[in-house]
Amino acid sequence: MVIKPMIRNRICMNAHPVGCREYVRRQVEYAKNSGPIDGPKRVLVIGGSTGYGLGSRVVAAFGCRAATVSVAFEKEGSAKRSGTAGWYNTIAFDEFAHKAGLTAISINGDAFSHEIKQQTIEAIREHLGSVDLVVYSVASPVRTDPDSGEMYRSVLKPIGRPFTAKSLDFMKGEISETRLEPADEEEIEATRKVMGGEDWSLWIDALEQAGVFAENATSVAYSYIGSERTRAVYREGTIGKAKDHLERTAEELHGRMVQYGGQAYVSVNKAVVTRSSAVIPVGLYFVLLSDVMQSKGLDEGCIEQCYRLFAQRLYAGKEIPVDDQGRIRIDDWELRDDVQAEVDRRWEIADNDTIHQLADLEEYRKQFLNIHGFGYDNVDYEADVTP
Ligand SMILES: NC(=O)c1ccc[n+]([C@@H]2O[C@H](COP(=O)([O-])OP(=O)(O)OC[C@H]3O[C@@H](n4cnc5c(N)ncnc54)[C@H](O)[C@@H]3O)[C@@H](O)[C@H]2O)c1
Repeated sequence: MVIKPMIRNRICMNAHPVGCREYVRRQVEYAKNSGPIDGPKRVLVIGGSTGYGLGSRVVAAFGCRAATVSVAFEKEGSAKRSGTAGWYNTIAFDEFAHKAGLTAISINGDAFSHEIKQQTIEAIREHLGSVDLVVYSVASPVRTDPDSGEMYRSVLKPIGRPFTAKSLDFMKGEISETRLEPADEEEIEATRKVMGGEDWSLWIDALEQAGVFAENATSVAYSYIGSERTRAVYREGTIGKAKDHLERTAEELHGRMVQYGGQAYVSVNKAVVTRSSAVIPVGLYFVLLSDVMQSKGLDEGCIEQCYRLFAQRLYAGKEIPVDDQGRIRIDDWELRDDVQAEVDRRWEIADNDTIHQLADLEEYRKQFLNIHGFGYDNVDYEADVTP
């Protein structure tokens, strides 16, 4: 079948198997060409099929030559429908890793469940013995609590008062005003249940209890802060409250783990195009940021951020640099004063007439297509492929 992108409301409904392989191949090349890192050797990535989790897995494997286990929740393709990008990315990753002589185990299922935790522990026991790095990079709209069976749905809403801001539909190139109503207490709590630190903590408990978490192991989970432009809907909104919880979880885990030589951190990463970030309703900020950072030669995607996190923060061979709240920061370039000042300047004058001069929308669309395996010059999109 010939697979062309099907995009509805900033969501791409399908993915291209050959293009996803190309997406992963480029990341693998980047990690290999950036030089070896004296890093972890047995790594578990929870949420390792796309975005920051995939970038982490690629750097662990091809930068550190680590054996990796990934847990992700993806849909397999069928005769009639393509699978999800993460499904194809994982197949491609396993192929590249195995060719390079690296152990790569990929588990597909709900990371929030007890069953998948147990299955992962069994796989670690059998193939790795134990893990010395656990990356937690799950982004999900829903979570079923494994004990109560209750399902929680996360929302992206401001807290306390409505949020109104310019919003960009990057596919159409149209700017409009978006208004979001504030979340109620139930929605704030549900978002914390899904995107806070509860599941990360359950993973570490399970790995420790099973004796497969190495004594001096590290764990890292990803967070975001962002700028003034996104503050009301992101960091001070429902998702920000969940990230506050994730960061408090890092402190708790760290306090416990240092006693046996381990450590837990939150790394605050830069805004990048992923399936999850594409639905955040402040697209104008992301598009302007990407263009400003590119013009300054500072732009990074997941693989560049993950490489820098491993090489210059986690495994630089010295004490890990953290901010006054104990967080690793690789959003440093995004938050540089000159970058933010230029994003602000463009934001003020952005409208339907100026947006095409202020940002390279074509480039942004390409990045969005790339994460679903579309938009590569060296992939034949007219060719028949089996999904
Ligand atoms: N994208 C950004 O701009 C950005 C910036 C800073 C921090 N972060 C953070 O990075 C983390 C990863 O986000 P991303 O943008 O890379 O997202 P993503 O959508 O690309 O990846 C999410 C991963 O979670 C997995 N997943 C989802 N539900 C699951 C489940 N129930 N069980 C198992 N796996 C499941 C998916 O399969 C996928 O591997 C999040 O914590 C996010 O807040 C993202």
